[in-house]
Amino acid sequence: MIRPRRNRRTPAIRSMVRETILSPADFILPMFLHEDAVDTPIESMPGVTRWSLKSLVREAGEAHALGIPAVVLFPKIEESLKTPSAAECHNPSGLVPRAIEALKKAHPTLCVITDVALDPYNADGHDGIVRRDAGGGLTILNDETVEVLCQQALCHARAGADIVAPSDMMDGRVGAIREVLDEEGFTQVSIMSYTAKYASALYGPFRGALDSAPKEGDKKTYQMDPANAVEALRETLLDEAEGADVLMVKPASYYLDVIAKMQENTTLPVAAYQVSGEYLMIKAAASGGWLDEKAVVLESLVSIKRAGASMILTYFARQAAEWLKKA
Ligand code: PBG
Repeated sequence: MIRPRRNRRTPAIRSMVRETILSPADFILPMFLHEDAVDTPIESMPGVTRWSLKSLVREAGEAHALGIPAVVLFPKIEESLKTPSAAECHNPSGLVPRAIEALKKAHPTLCVITDVALDPYNADGHDGIVRRDAGGGLTILNDETVEVLCQQALCHARAGADIVAPSDMMDGRVGAIREVLDEEGFTQVSIMSYTAKYASALYGPFRGALDSAPKEGDKKTYQMDPANAVEALRETLLDEAEGADVLMVKPASYYLDVIAKMQENTTLPVAAYQVSGEYLMIKAAASGGWLDEKAVVLESLVSIKRAGASMILTYFARQAAEWLKKA
């Protein structure tokens, strides 16, 4: 008689039949940085810090030493540098290019990923260039935005980024970035595309961290409707055709079905982003003593991997890597 419980009887047997093994090599650590020389705890994301350049390099090195292969950078740009054209995003001596150079110099084996989108760089908080319509509404100008994103991606590649990650959700930006990178000789720089990025309420704490919330309107005209999953496959086909190297689903935990569908329908690696709101829900419950933080974090991460993501962007990366080392 078949008895499934026999395979659960002891830790040794469970470890032999385990289908999904979480490892620090699965994690990508999102890191916030700013121009200040002091580090600032981020009020909207308890336990997360906005680093000075110097601390960023140290912290990234420590994460890398724990087996985390990659970091992704999110800059807080000074208000005075924000303009409607977001030109600071491709300033070769801007904060991000300097951070890339410093990170690659100190840690040559660390994979440096950069976010490609305009929201930290324009005062509107939108991922693209905003036009005010006669009726007072806002339009995000797709093609004009793509041109700026290409310059931003090129600027990051020139500074030494290994992977650029467009998170803006404009149509055609992966193909356009690929073309510009190749033309300029950066054929080896990869594109991790935010393929299925949903218009989620879970990004709130992140926008607080960068002071990048939209001043007006929302992102529903370019980010995906949480009700749609087949549309994620249409986005998958487009990103594949345009030359993406890695596809991403974001957020992660509420979208495990999308991760699974995407992974079944592509031969490219699938990444998932456990976003700020997912982080915060666990943190808040744990700080109230209502949930066991370690157990819930590891369960959330193994679930994302089991669903089909082979790379996980998570604010818990460092802590989880330490827990896994001790396990
Ligand atoms: C914006 C961007 C966002 C996040 C990553 N890149 C916010 C947004 O789309 O409004 C969210 C990450 C998080 O919530 O942790 N380009």
